[in-house]
Amino acid sequence: MFVLFSSWRVHLHVIDTKKIKAALCSTSLLKPQKNPLGEFCGVNLLGLKSLFTEPGSSIWALKRKEFDPHFHTAGLVRGYNQISEIASELVEAISCDSGTNITVLMQQHVSSVIAAFIMNMEDKSEFISYTEKMANIFSGLSTRLRHKNTFWMPWAFSEVKKEVLSNLHDVRAFFKSFVLSLNFDEVNLNSCIGSIIKTNMEGDNLMIDLLINELVMFFFAGIDTSIHTISFAFYELLRNKEVLTKIEREIKLVFGDKQSLEYNDFNELKYLDDFIKEVLRYHPIVSSVARETGPSGFILCDKYIPGNTTVHINIECVQKSERFWTDPLKFKVERWIEPPTPFSFIPFSGGTRSCIGKKLALLEIKMFVSSILRKYTIDFDKSDLREIPTKNVITNRLGKDLIVYFKRREQE
Ligand code: HEM
Repeated sequence: MFVLFSSWRVHLHVIDTKKIKAALCSTSLLKPQKNPLGEFCGVNLLGLKSLFTEPGSSIWALKRKEFDPHFHTAGLVRGYNQISEIASELVEAISCDSGTNITVLMQQHVSSVIAAFIMNMEDKSEFISYTEKMANIFSGLSTRLRHKNTFWMPWAFSEVKKEVLSNLHDVRAFFKSFVLSLNFDEVNLNSCIGSIIKTNMEGDNLMIDLLINELVMFFFAGIDTSIHTISFAFYELLRNKEVLTKIEREIKLVFGDKQSLEYNDFNELKYLDDFIKEVLRYHPIVSSVARETGPSGFILCDKYIPGNTTVHINIECVQKSERFWTDPLKFKVERWIEPPTPFSFIPFSGGTRSCIGKKLALLEIKMFVSSILRKYTIDFDKSDLREIPTKNVITNRLGKDLIVYFKRREQE
C-alpha cells in the first residue's frame, strides 16, 4: 500500500504548441528519473547514465557536446560512404523471386548503419544477429507494460520477464566482448566510438559497464525507430500510387544515370523529403515524451506547475490535431508546401533533449528508399490495401507484416 501511495504523482498533458515549446526547451524540466522501461521488469533497457537516460545533469551536457558533431552535417558527410555502401548492399540483397517482409529486410541494413557509423565495426554480421533479440526484448517489455495493473499476479509474467532478462543479458554480453576486443591505442578518438569511450572514462580508468550502457542505448534508440519508419514509408508508397509515381520521377530526374551519387545529390530530392515528413507526422514512431518538474515546481507559460509533476507531451496527438493541421487524418504530402506551426511537428521531440540521431535517420531513410526505388518497381498483395492498424510495442509499428513484391527495372 505504501509503495502505491508513494508512487502517486500528478500527471499533466500538454497539447498547446507554445507550452510544448516552453517545456521541451526548458533546461529546468528534466527527463523522468525513473525510466518506465526499467520500472516494471527491474531492467533498465536504455542503460543507466547513458545520454538517453541521464535526467539532464552536467554529465548529460558534457556527453551531448562531445557526441553532437558526429551527428551534424559534417559528421554525416564523413560517414556518407559507409551508409552508401550499406544502401548498395541493401539493393543487391533484394529478391524478386517471392514477396519480401519489408521490416525484416530493413532490420539487417539499419543495424549495419549503427554498427558502422557509431561503432566502426568491420564485421557487422554478429551485431546484426542481435536485432532479433532486441525485437524480443521490446515485445516482452511491452507485454509487461500493457499489463502493469496486474502487478498482484506477478507469476503471469514470470516467463516473459525471464525471456527479456535472458535476451538483454546476451545483448550486453555481446557489447562487452566488443568493448574488450577494442585496441584502445588504435581507436581514433575523433570518431564516434572514440567520443563514447572518452565520455566514459574516469581519469585514466575506463568505466566498462557505463560504456556498455551507452552502446546498448544507441542500439535500442537508433535501430527500431528507423526500421519502422521505413516500413511505414513503404506502406504509404504502396497505398498512394500518385505519390509513388512523383517520387519515382523525381529520383529519375535528380539521379539520371549517375553511377556514383554524392551526399548533396540526396538534398535535391525535395518531394521525397516532404513524403518522409508526412510519414513521420502520420506515423510517429515515438508516441509521447515526458519531463518532470523538480521539488519546487515550474512556471510553464505563466502557469505554476506543482513540484514532482510529470509533464507529458503527446507527439501523436499534436501531430494529428485539427488546431494545427488541415485534414489531419489524411495522408497528404502536399501539405508540406507550407511550413507547419512551430512545435506541431515533433517526431524527434524538440528543444534540449531532441533526438541526436535525427539527421542520420533522415539520411538513411532517404538513401534506402531512393536506392530501392531507383532499381525496383514495388507492388503488394492487393488484400494489403486495406488499412493496416498500428500497434505499439514500446514504439509504434505496422500491426501486421507488410510483404512487398519487387521487380527489377529494365535498364533505360
Ligand atoms: C526515425 C528515427 C528516429 C526517431 C523517430 C527518433 C525519435 C526520438 C525521440 C522522440 C527522442 C526524444 C526523447 C525525449 O525527448 O525524451 C529521441 C532521443 C534520442 N535518440 Fe532518436 N529517433 C530516431 C532515430 C535515432 C537514431 C538513428 C539514433 C542514433 C544513432 C537516435 C538516438 C537518440 C538518442 C541518443 C536520444 C537521446 C538524446 C538526448 O537525450 O540527448 N535516434 N529520439
